[in-house]
Parts: sequence; structure tokens; C-alpha cells
Amino acid sequence: MKVLVTGVEGYIGSLLAPLLMQHGHEVVGTDTGFYRDGWLFSDSKTYSCFPRFINRDLRHFTEKDLAGFDAVVHMAELSNDPLGQNNPALTHSINHGGSVNLALNAKRAGVSRFVYTSSCSVYGVGSGDFLTEESPVNPQTAYAVCKTLVERDVNELADESFSPVFLRNSTAYGASPRMRFDIVLNNLAGLAWTTKKIAMTSDGTPWRPLVHVMDICTAIRCALEAPRDSIHKQIFNVGDNAANYRVREIAEFVADEFPGCALSIGSSAGDNRSYRVSFDKIHRQLPGFSCAWDAKMGAAQLREVFSRIGMDKTGFDFRAFTRLKQLKHLIATKQVDDDLFWRF
Ligand SMILES: NC(=O)c1ccc[n+]([C@@H]2O[C@H](COP(=O)([O-])OP(=O)(O)OC[C@H]3O[C@@H](n4cnc5c(N)ncnc54)[C@H](O)[C@@H]3O)[C@@H](O)[C@H]2O)c1
Repeated sequence: MKVLVTGVEGYIGSLLAPLLMQHGHEVVGTDTGFYRDGWLFSDSKTYSCFPRFINRDLRHFTEKDLAGFDAVVHMAELSNDPLGQNNPALTHSINHGGSVNLALNAKRAGVSRFVYTSSCSVYGVGSGDFLTEESPVNPQTAYAVCKTLVERDVNELADESFSPVFLRNSTAYGASPRMRFDIVLNNLAGLAWTTKKIAMTSDGTPWRPLVHVMDICTAIRCALEAPRDSIHKQIFNVGDNAANYRVREIAEFVADEFPGCALSIGSSAGDNRSYRVSFDKIHRQLPGFSCAWDAKMGAAQLREVFSRIGMDKTGFDFRAFTRLKQLKHLIATKQVDDDLFWRF
């Protein structure tokens, strides 16, 4: 397949593109490069190949740019809750407006498959029961609201020749050169390594399903390669039933993996987002998908990488590994304008 991957310089995209190429797909990657300053480690096995690259903002893609592709994997968005809360209107314009426009142009250009990376955060606050793809959504943030709006609007574009599929990913973890330390397990592992302390202010009771970044890549590859009937207009929660953790358990796994790390749990209620998710459908209906990782393995992988590269506090705190910090830096240094378009 000839596949356009948007967000190819991101945490997930930078691993997905070589994976798809290794599976025989022709990949073109695109990104505007907000986090280009950050590259945590090199690994010549994963990076035996790089895709052809288009340096462009999502909002500037036209129908013409999308002609000739069999599929689009769309990941280029402001990628978490704090980014969304920082500027909800901008989040709507990129994440909702930009994504629907991309899908519309893809359809007009004759692209037959559109894989969208949605999020389990659309469930927001659950009762603690397992939530399925049929459960009502309850988004708590601009980021999560936009995910539900894109799902709704892109689903309406589906027809005989255009098949969108929506992957509601759990929160990711694991090593990627375009590292993110603003997602829970990676953040706790970085703290454990650099400070030998994990001091949680909250009581860590919320449920948070996790999935390894390479398992997300596998889900995307399977969604591209599956027969049309199994994915057309489908939503899949991406993860594993066994990987519904309480935040406190995640901290315990990490502390166990980093010898000498002291863990303290707070008492405040903290974050109100809590959801426990069923992943039965993806295992039943998406051919070839299973999770190869669990959180313990992910923590061990991070410890191995930190040790290999001698990661220090400066590396952990580097702005490009925390999405909101980097965007604030680009705005403060006037490299991008308030709408996040590059000035030069
Ligand atoms: N990482 C997770 O835990 C997780 C979980 C669920 C869903 N997702 C979704 O998966 C996708 C990828 O996530 P990620 O963790 O790799 O995020 P990321 O922030 O690392 O990568 C997103 C990439 O998109 C690019 N981008 C952002 N706005 C753009 C624009 N206007 N034009 C062009 N490029 C733009 C950024 O430069 C970045 O390289 C996102 O849509 C995210 O919402 C991620």
C-alpha cells in the first residue's frame, strides 16, 4: 500500500513509519515539526529506513496532495489534555477542523482507507465497569471532545469507496526517539531514574488503561491490512483487558523496576479522569492484533534505554519531551505565531 502517515515525527509516528516500511508498504511521512528539537536515542535496527518526508502543516493539505495514496494514517494533532486545555479554540481548529478537512480531501482524492488515532480518553469518567465501543462517551477536555467530533464527522464520510476506522488508543508508554515524558508511565520512569523518588500527590485510584507504543503501531498496521469488512466504520479500543491499571499500580510497577526508588502516595483525589476499558472487540475482530508488551516490560525497557544513554535530569526535563513546554517555548521565542504556524 502507498500510505501517508501524518504526525510522522511524533512519539508514535517515528516508530510507525519504519515498521510499515519493513512490512513492505510505501510510506510518505508528513509533519510540521513542533518537537523536532528532541531525539532521545538512536537505534539503527529500528531506523534501518526513513520515509520520504513532506514538511507541512496539516491545515495546508489539499486534495491534490493526497492523490495517489491508498491509505492515510492520521496522527498529527495536539496530542494530549494539557495541550488542549491550554488553548481550546486552537485545539478545535487543528484537531477537529484540520482532521475532518484532511479526511474530506483524502476521500475526494480517492484514498480508500483512513486510519484515525483516537483515544480512550473519550470515556472520561466511567463508573469502574468495563467500557466498550458502544458505551456512551463522556469527554472531559477539549482534546477528548475533539476526538469524539472527528469520529462523528469522519464516520459520516464513509461510503463504498472510503473506509474510515477509529482506533481509541489507551495511554501509551515505552521508548521512542521522539520521547514523551508527559505521559504517565514514561514520566514516572524518568522521575525514578533521575531523582530516585516517585512522590505522588494524588491517591492514584483512577483507572487508566495503558498500551505500549509498539502495540499501537501493530494495531495501526493491522487496521491498514485488514479486509475492508472488518474495519469499515469501526471503532476499536486499543489495548488489553489486563492492562487496565490504577495509577497507583503503575507507580508501583515503575518503583519495582528502578531499584532504590522511594514511592510515596498522596491523599488528594487528584485527576477526575478515570476509565476502565474492554478490549475484547479488537482481539476478536482485527486480524493479527495482540499486545506483545505489558507495563512491567515497558518500565524495564525504559530503564535499559536510560542506562544505555546515561540519561540525566537535563535530558529528562528537556522541553521537547514535554509537548506543552515545547509549544510554549516556540511561541515565547516567536518561532511560531499564536495559531502555531511557523513565522519563517
Ligand atoms: N501517545 C498517547 O498516549 C496517545 C494515546 C491516545 C491517542 N493518541 C493520539 O495519537 C496521535 C499521535 O500521538 P503522539 O503521542 O505520537 O503525539 P506527538 O505529539 O508525539 O506527535 C504528534 C505529531 O503531530 C505533529 N503535529 C501537530 N500538529 C500539527 C499540525 N497542525 N500540522 C502538522 N503536524 C502537526 C507534531 O509536530 C508531532 O510530531 C495523536 O493524535 C494522539 O492524540 C496518543
